[in-house]
Amino acid sequence: MAILITGAAGFIGMHCSLRLLARGDRVVGIDNLNDYYPVQLKRDRVAKVAAEGGGRYRFIHCDFADHAALEAALDGLEIDRIIHLGAQAGVRYSIENPRAYAQSNLVGHLNILELARGRRSAHLVYASSSSVYGGNETLPFRVEDRVDHPLSLYAATKKADELMSETYAHLYRLSQTGLRFFTVYGPWGRPDMALWLFTDAILKGRPISVFNGGEMRRDFTYIDDIVTGVVAALDHPPSDDGQAKAGGSVSPHAVYNIGNHRSEELTRLIDLIEAACGRPAIRELKPMQPGDVRETFADIGAIERDLGFRPTTDISEGVPRFVDWFRDYHGI
Ligand SMILES: NC(=O)c1ccc[n+]([C@@H]2O[C@H](COP(=O)([O-])OP(=O)(O)OC[C@H]3O[C@@H](n4cnc5c(N)ncnc54)[C@H](O)[C@@H]3O)[C@@H](O)[C@H]2O)c1
Repeated sequence: MAILITGAAGFIGMHCSLRLLARGDRVVGIDNLNDYYPVQLKRDRVAKVAAEGGGRYRFIHCDFADHAALEAALDGLEIDRIIHLGAQAGVRYSIENPRAYAQSNLVGHLNILELARGRRSAHLVYASSSSVYGGNETLPFRVEDRVDHPLSLYAATKKADELMSETYAHLYRLSQTGLRFFTVYGPWGRPDMALWLFTDAILKGRPISVFNGGEMRRDFTYIDDIVTGVVAALDHPPSDDGQAKAGGSVSPHAVYNIGNHRSEELTRLIDLIEAACGRPAIRELKPMQPGDVRETFADIGAIERDLGFRPTTDISEGVPRFVDWFRDYHGI
């Protein structure tokens, strides 16, 4: 199969590309290599995928929020299915730079929908986020829950993506799966996320900022489990049979949580990083940050039932793997 992956230089895009290439698919990866975090990390990810993918991988530097550029870049290329992971990520940055979210997550998502429609793509899998649940207090979060009260613009754009996708599934019968990712971590991860920030600070003897005094819980999902779920979704387009899908659509559009189904204390994460680094953290307790949620916890019953998804990596295994990669990558 020929798969288009957007956000291919990103953390999850890199790992999905590697998995699909390993099973023999062809991958076209696009990314605008923006400087939200160090561009060298994105280039290094692309170089690794290119080295492993050989002739079956093609990377194109392109901004998918520019529809003319997107269409020109992909002109003449075969694409069977699409995994749309490219986005402006990060809850906190959406307070500083809201327009980046409108461009990549709203205009960009529409452009990918139009691309999928024009190409009669057999399936579009796209990234949503656990942040759509906002401050929901009923745990674990279920795809049937109402998600009308986002706490950040990032979350609002992800919910808007789900709504735009629903209209395309209804109007054009475009088969789609939306995946609400829950705090993904692992080797080649993101420098703006807690695991990276804490590991970096601990190894360098700097203090770490522990928000809400450490009273936070997250459902941490290891990257290999995420990729297994994304590929399972890719291989099972929802059928256009009028039956209700996960998330409630009667069009060919399913929405799933993809998490580890364990809500971990932030302090446990820090303990595990300290153990893996062999050094204690200097913890500075800080108040809750605007836009953040106190707890996430995924009900994964729907994705387990429909796609056989079963995460297998506990953070006690995944965190040391990240720390080993981090030390190796930085030579520290
Ligand atoms: N990592 C997580 O914990 C997590 C959690 C929830 C949702 N998500 C979602 O999963 C997806 C992938 O996340 P990630 O962690 O790999 O993030 P990432 O930032 O590492 O990857 C996203 C990539 O998209 C690219 N991009 C952004 N705007 C673009 C544009 N206009 N044109 C082309 N490329 C563009 C960026 O350059 C980046 O390489 C995103 O949609 C994100 O919102 C991630």
